[in-house]
Amino acid sequence: MGGPVYDAGMTLRSRTWFKGPEYYHFSRRAWLRAEGFNHDIFDDAKPIIGICNSWSELNNCNSGLRDVAEAVKRGVWQAGGVPLEFPTISLAEMLMKPTAMLFRNLMAMDVEECIRAHPLDGVVLLSGCDKTTPAQLMGAASADVPAIMVTAGPMLAGHWRGQTLGSGTDGRKLFDQYRAGRITEEELCEIEACIARTVGHCAVMGTASTMANMAEAMGMTLPNNASIPAPDSRRMMLAENSGRRIVGMVAEDLKPSRIITRDSLRNAITALMALGGSTNAVVHLLAIAGRLGIPLTLSDFDEISRRTPCLADIKPSGRFVMEDFFYAGGLPALLNRIAPLLNTASITANGKTVGENLEGVPCLNDEVIRPLDNPMGSEGGIAVLHGNLAPNGAVIKQSAATPALMRHTGPAFVFENHEEMVEGIEREDLPVDENSVLVLKNGGPKGGPGFPEWGWIPMPKALLMRGVKDVVRISDARMSGTSFGTVVLHIAPESAAGGPLAFVRTGDLISLNVEQREVNLLISDQEWEKRRAEHQPPPPHFTRGYGRLYIDHVLQADEGADFDFLRADPR
Ligand code: FES
Repeated sequence: MGGPVYDAGMTLRSRTWFKGPEYYHFSRRAWLRAEGFNHDIFDDAKPIIGICNSWSELNNCNSGLRDVAEAVKRGVWQAGGVPLEFPTISLAEMLMKPTAMLFRNLMAMDVEECIRAHPLDGVVLLSGCDKTTPAQLMGAASADVPAIMVTAGPMLAGHWRGQTLGSGTDGRKLFDQYRAGRITEEELCEIEACIARTVGHCAVMGTASTMANMAEAMGMTLPNNASIPAPDSRRMMLAENSGRRIVGMVAEDLKPSRIITRDSLRNAITALMALGGSTNAVVHLLAIAGRLGIPLTLSDFDEISRRTPCLADIKPSGRFVMEDFFYAGGLPALLNRIAPLLNTASITANGKTVGENLEGVPCLNDEVIRPLDNPMGSEGGIAVLHGNLAPNGAVIKQSAATPALMRHTGPAFVFENHEEMVEGIEREDLPVDENSVLVLKNGGPKGGPGFPEWGWIPMPKALLMRGVKDVVRISDARMSGTSFGTVVLHIAPESAAGGPLAFVRTGDLISLNVEQREVNLLISDQEWEKRRAEHQPPPPHFTRGYGRLYIDHVLQADEGADFDFLRADPR
């Protein structure tokens, strides 16, 4: 296979490290050759391609990425480039405390600075678990060197006693049955062994799957990247093709700033709504936009949600798992159904436009990807709320909520923090009923800290034992993309930053009206002012180190929870 064709006079970025008369040009060549390379890796037509690998044994979702990296390398060599793999920190949703989200911005900085500091002409980003995909996209956007992403792919579905299990969503449901005494210890052990049975990220439309689809929808991957299961040989083929393609992207100078635009981000939001994707994507897309100075606000999400039908019948909003989505045609098939809602002229990583990529793409299963005349919902999966409890916004995943609770007024039951909540939900005498509105404070970016996934307040045992499956839950935290229920999240400003959530007390009436996009605390103006005057903010969790940096500089949810000093000037 021939190498890329460069414009006359184009100098590869890496040549400034290697080509020149100084000692350091010589020594960089010599020390790199310590890895066993011949001198011709420094030929003017051979771009150096970084393979940014978030593989880690501490992150099962990304533990297949070593093999993926080898496939990428094959492709890079075939196309005339030189692949050099490098590690960054990895963020494992299951194993990191207090929450992987605390470290998303740190990983983004790691990615950005690794790309910037090294002799790289292009980068292949290898991500998987929830936060690794946005962190790599944020870092690559800031570094703005040609980049393409390959994600780990979803796990295969679990199977237990005739049930198909989607890791994440079904684990939560079955664990609630265990808490209610309807599943035995032995059965839970069987489920533990089969619910996450392969490498890859969670098998439902949780945050990892959603963010892989966002990367594809905004054009940062080859078509079909998001849904190919992790153990499927076609993922390796896609990785090899991505390795070939990045060499061409270098020749075309196809950088993230040319692919990630306001139009392509709005395509991603449209896909998010049609997929019934994770609420976390709202935060991550806002952060990615901020890295490139692209104006994007919660209003974009709500406007697009109102016009976009939810078509994907995938857990947690629907019945199927990511494997089924792949067999149905994956994201290209879904996007083709909503093509009139997309900016089809947006350029993508393969050099073609969105419209060109969608030409002739069939949908192979109308149950998994519903037709427009039989949608899961006439609106998108996520609604943006405002009101006196959320002056700067909040979100709810309406596709995974209980329809009867979407308009509800009830008395608040307040947990002041996570510890109170963990203790309270197990109390069989907790004074709550099906009308209660559970409220959790101090779960936001500063308050968690790190914006943890505490917003999916587990159903109190007192209610589970009575067969109540859902109540309205409200917080300034996030929730896992695999979660479900009538859960209002991302209240901004958060309680730890003095937002109105801090003033709610048990017994106050709270009104939720999703159709009107409102969430309000029903107390008098005088009472508001009294509580505001009495409010004492909690002490900060960190006084030194990364935690201190985080608390001092993290932005609120409606701005993507990035660090203030990492955003670009508006374009
Ligand atoms: Fe990694 Fe679910 S735990 S994607």
